[in-house]
Amino acid sequence: MLTARIKVIHVGYFITFEGVEGCGKTTQIKLLSEFLSTRGILSVLTREPGGCPIADKIRTILLDAENQALSPLAELMLYAAARAQHITEVISPALSAGKIVLCDRFCDATVAYQSFGRGIDRTIIDSLNFHACQGRTPDLTILVDCDPRVGLERARRRIEATSGPREERFELEALAFHQRVRDGYLQLAADDPNRFLIIDGSETIEEIFASITTQVDSRIPESLRAVC
Ligand code: TMP
Repeated sequence: MLTARIKVIHVGYFITFEGVEGCGKTTQIKLLSEFLSTRGILSVLTREPGGCPIADKIRTILLDAENQALSPLAELMLYAAARAQHITEVISPALSAGKIVLCDRFCDATVAYQSFGRGIDRTIIDSLNFHACQGRTPDLTILVDCDPRVGLERARRRIEATSGPREERFELEALAFHQRVRDGYLQLAADDPNRFLIIDGSETIEEIFASITTQVDSRIPESLRAVC
């Protein structure tokens, strides 16, 4: 695989969260960040697309429901551009400084959404991810698996309740699209079982959180527990 050739040895620990719309990953990543901080472990909580001012501007374009005309290839390249900036400004410096990075979505989202969802050739996506990631690959990816019908219902309720910009370009996609995305994530997890942890998103927030903390606790390198 392309990324394997330039894997950068980092001293921090890189955890990504993935899943379909409304799976509950954003709630869980925030809980994990709070959990780590109560243990005195420093972590950087960030997200994609976004995570720094330039990438946040790209996020606005990507999620604006008015941009229905955005072509799949332009969409893919905007995700890659946002990622390249985010890695350079936020993720790489934090990992090099020995921090734990918690990122809400990362390169697996591009494979699941733009390849399995949109149907773009996987080799194009792997190549763009390879360049954008600059050798940074997650140590652990937590996939919060959820039936897209349940997730979409939750996501739509959240959007209705929000007063900010309606970031709903993907929520407006058909159920079949989200089903392909879920299948894509499960395929990625099956291909890389050492990196992926699949969590059942139909469990309660407390049950999911308990599974995640147990797993994360057992995987974080001892050297990072002392970084307070
Ligand atoms: P969020 O709703 O989890 O903040 O993610 C924003 C949306 O962007 C979500 O619908 C998934 C989508 N997305 C992609 O299509 N490709 C990507 O590479 C990433 C990071 C997100």
